[in-house]
Amino acid sequence: MSGINMSETPLRLAVLLSGNGSNLQALIDAIESKQLPGVEIALVVSNNPNAYGLQRALKHALPAIYLPWGQANVPQKTEMSENETRLTSLLRLFQVDFIVLAGWMRILSAPFLEQFPRRVINLHPALLPNDGTGSTYTTKDGTEIPVFRGLRAVRQALDAGIKVTGSTIHYVTPEVDAGPVICREEVAIEQGDTEESLHERVKVVEHRLIVEAVRKLNRRDAITEHLPYDKITEH
Ligand code: GRF
Repeated sequence: MSGINMSETPLRLAVLLSGNGSNLQALIDAIESKQLPGVEIALVVSNNPNAYGLQRALKHALPAIYLPWGQANVPQKTEMSENETRLTSLLRLFQVDFIVLAGWMRILSAPFLEQFPRRVINLHPALLPNDGTGSTYTTKDGTEIPVFRGLRAVRQALDAGIKVTGSTIHYVTPEVDAGPVICREEVAIEQGDTEESLHERVKVVEHRLIVEAVRKLNRRDAITEHLPYDKITEH
């Protein structure tokens, strides 16, 4: 088996975002320039009506919707929130196969995620270990650095005074920024970097990695067999 998605039906992505949407743009550009054959964006969802990502979607004639979500809150462990129920209906209506969280600032509950096993991925602007868990990460040069999760991971890396951070694409699990890794790349922290300058360089890497991750995952066997990190990356 080649492992390539030979099916006639394209993989239908939903991209969930809350802001700028430069990673959505990277996916749009890759699809339009035929770098992601067999992949289409079925729906863009934002919890923020002013998210520039919505404008990007509309400019490319993609279905895009503002889904009011209210304040960020800790999700229930046993049942989906009303917002998640509404989101689920939308995802089903648009026949979404795969969900990309691209700067989506709301935590999704375990019951929501269970509906889409290994079908929700997230971009995190820091380095996570292979299985996503643990509190340290060993960089290519053998240095052990802390794992930065949650908000302002770029700022956290700068404040820690380390030399390397990076970008990680990982499966989403109920624990925030702690799922198995699909793609990852280090980014050097330069002297004089600000949060903005460093985040810009991390984003340049992210834009490449998100396309790479979706290309890998478009092999249907990678999705259905729940391959661990090492297996997925060796293709
Ligand atoms: C990215 O840096 C991503 O890692 C983080 O949110 C940012 C979203 O950027 N989760 P954009 O909205 O795609 O430009």
